[in-house]
Parts: sequence; structure tokens; C-alpha cells
Amino acid sequence: MKDAATIAMERCDFLGGISEENGLLVRPFGSQAMQRAQDAVSGWMQEASMSVRRDAIGNLIGRYEGTGEKTLILGSHLDTVRDAGRYDGILGVMVALACVELLRERGERLPFAIEVAGFADEEGLRFGTTYLGSSVFAGTFEEELLGYEDPDGITIAEAVRTAGGDPDALTGAGRRRDDLLGYCEVHIEQGPVLERLGDPVGVVAGITGQSRVRVEFSGEAGHAGTVPMKGRRDALCAAAEFVLAVEEAAGKESDMVATVGHISVHPDAHNVIPGKALLSLDLRHGDDAVRGRVLQSLRARAGKIARGRGEEHDWRVQQESRAVPTDPDLTALLARAVEEIGHPVHRMPSGAGHDAAAVAEIAPVAMLFVRCRGGISHNPAESVNREDVAVAIDAISHFLELLAENR
Ligand code: GLV
Ligand code: MN
Ligand code: MN
Repeated sequence: MKDAATIAMERCDFLGGISEENGLLVRPFGSQAMQRAQDAVSGWMQEASMSVRRDAIGNLIGRYEGTGEKTLILGSHLDTVRDAGRYDGILGVMVALACVELLRERGERLPFAIEVAGFADEEGLRFGTTYLGSSVFAGTFEEELLGYEDPDGITIAEAVRTAGGDPDALTGAGRRRDDLLGYCEVHIEQGPVLERLGDPVGVVAGITGQSRVRVEFSGEAGHAGTVPMKGRRDALCAAAEFVLAVEEAAGKESDMVATVGHISVHPDAHNVIPGKALLSLDLRHGDDAVRGRVLQSLRARAGKIARGRGEEHDWRVQQESRAVPTDPDLTALLARAVEEIGHPVHRMPSGAGHDAAAVAEIAPVAMLFVRCRGGISHNPAESVNREDVAVAIDAISHFLELLAENR
């Protein structure tokens, strides 16, 4: 019989083949690929004696009953970035499922129920937002987001409806909090630290804060052959100046990271001077005050660049997420579980965003990182060892035992 880690790895491989595009993994919120992936996960949940529901935004939630009133949430997200790896988010859901299957095989019920959440949107690929799924779960979804559009002009409200959810119910669809013991998320590290240390897993101390901004420069489109260089109002040149300003600003601040991951130009043709350039800015730091200060200075810089070129600019903050520490008690229990199964405990910050940051609004949260090869992530080369996945399953299983003893 196959062991739990092998099954979890095979399931990640299987889900890695469910994509909106041939030849690369892309599974955005509200897509048909997401529906197919959720159908597969829902089937595995039901085989593990879990009752399955989808909430108003389409988070998939499987529940394994316990003998008591309280509930522990495990899980992560099922959406991906574009040209993604197979493990970011998905592994956390598969490890959670494996832990429930081990309980079921032993016919064991804990003194609390376990809910495994497969969140519908953490990456924000489609709408430029992050934590859409887990913010609905946490009851913090903001109604103004309903009008945000994807690149095809489809709003979040329309996408939710098409996916079988209820856009009018999102703000009130938070999970009731009075029965929650906490939320524990397993995730690949997405960085090189555990590999350098030689540790299979790490315990997360906190999750970085982030700002996501949409910046648009507007100049004037024109003929590439006839408009002299002097006097051009090339929006892409303004954007290029801004991109380098972002790199410089982040480089001056210790532990700050800033990325322009998307640029589109209009009209987007070889022999036309770009009249508009739209770009994304992703800014992160563990200290919210530092992030706020750098954000303001970049905003001023964008204005200065536009004015200097006789152009306009539009600055729209699409999302701000504060830095979130993990819960000291739940994290101490997780660290104890790692130690008692025979592994060193390395505590580390997370520079990536995670659903745990959103769920922290309603429950104590803890996170376990799993070593990944070369620290590579948001890349199809993402890779984890079966042995490390086995350690994660053991650690979470032991964490459940410790939590049960404490009840
Ligand atoms: C999610 O991967 C994020 O940190 O943006
Ligand atoms: Mn993730
Ligand atoms: Mn990710």
C-alpha cells in the first residue's frame, strides 16, 4: 500500500495537470480548471468520510467530525499563479487531507472536528487582489472589490456568480468564530533557508505585510517613424523610469522587497509610441510603517516622473494587507510537535503572503514551512521531497495529538 506522503505527492502531480492552458499550469479563481480541481479534491474528501461544502465565494471546505464542539481548520489554497509550480498552496491542502485520512484509517475521532479548507483565491492572479477566498472565510471581504475587473472586463461579482457562488452574500459569509480552535497551514517555504540549514520543515513566526497598487501612465500615442524624440510623451518610458525607481527604493531599505510583475501598453504595436502603460506594484515589508512610508514616497515619485514628461498618472491601491504574527501558543504547540518527532525547530518569517494572514482575523494561526529545492517557487520548477512531505504529515498528525491532549 502507498504511504500518505506518496499519495499527497501524486495528488499534487494530478492537480498540476488541471490548467486553463495547455503546457503550463494556470488555475485562476473562478475558472473551469478550478472547478475541475475542486471536484477532484471534493471526491477525496468524501472518500475520507468528510462532509463537503462550498461557501459563497467558492472555497471548498471538508469537515471531519470529532467528538467535541470545537473545530480546527487546516488547509491552504487551490488557485495558482501563471506558469506555476505544483505545490504552492496545493501541498498544504493535500497534507491536511492526508492527516484526516490517517485518522479515518485508524477509525479515530478527535475531541474536536477538523475542517480542511481549499481556498479559492490566494494568489490574486485574475483580479490583482490577494486572499479573496480566505477574506470571505474570515468575514473581512470588502464590498467595493465586487466591481474590480479582470483583463477581459469581467467583474468579481460576475465571476463569483458564474462559478456558482453568491456575490451578494460575500460580506456576510464569514465562518462563525466561536467554535474555532485555530488554523494551521502547511506551505512550501518558497525560499532557500531550510535547504541551507538542512532542515525539512520550519515554523513560521509571522507573515509579511503587502501593498498591491495599479499604476497607469498616460502620454500620447504616435507614429514611431515621424514623431521626433524631443517632445514625445511615451508612457512606457515613464513606466520604465518608475520600474527602476521601485528597484532603487527597495534596495535602500533593509528587508524590503518590491516587484513590478506586470506591464501592459496601449496600443501595443511595433511602430506605435505607447500612449498608455499600466503596471502592477507589489511592495512588502515585515514592518507596516516602513512599507507605508516607502509606498508614499513611490507615489510621489510616480507623480514627479509623469509631470517631468508632460504625462498623467493614476495611482490605485488595490489592496493592503498588514503584517501578521502567528499565534504564540498554537505556534509553540506546532514547534513542540516538530521537536518531538525528532526534527530541529527553525523559526522564520514569511516574505510570501498566505491565507493564514487573512484567517488570523478570526482565529489563532500557525504555519509550517516545507523545504523546497533551491527555494524556487512561482515557477514550474518548484520541487519538494517525498521525505519532507512525510515529515510535514507526521508533524501535523502529532500536532493534532497534542491539541487533543490539551482539550
Ligand atoms: C502569494 O504567493 C504571494 O505572496 O503573493
Ligand atoms: Mn501560496
Ligand atoms: Mn503563491
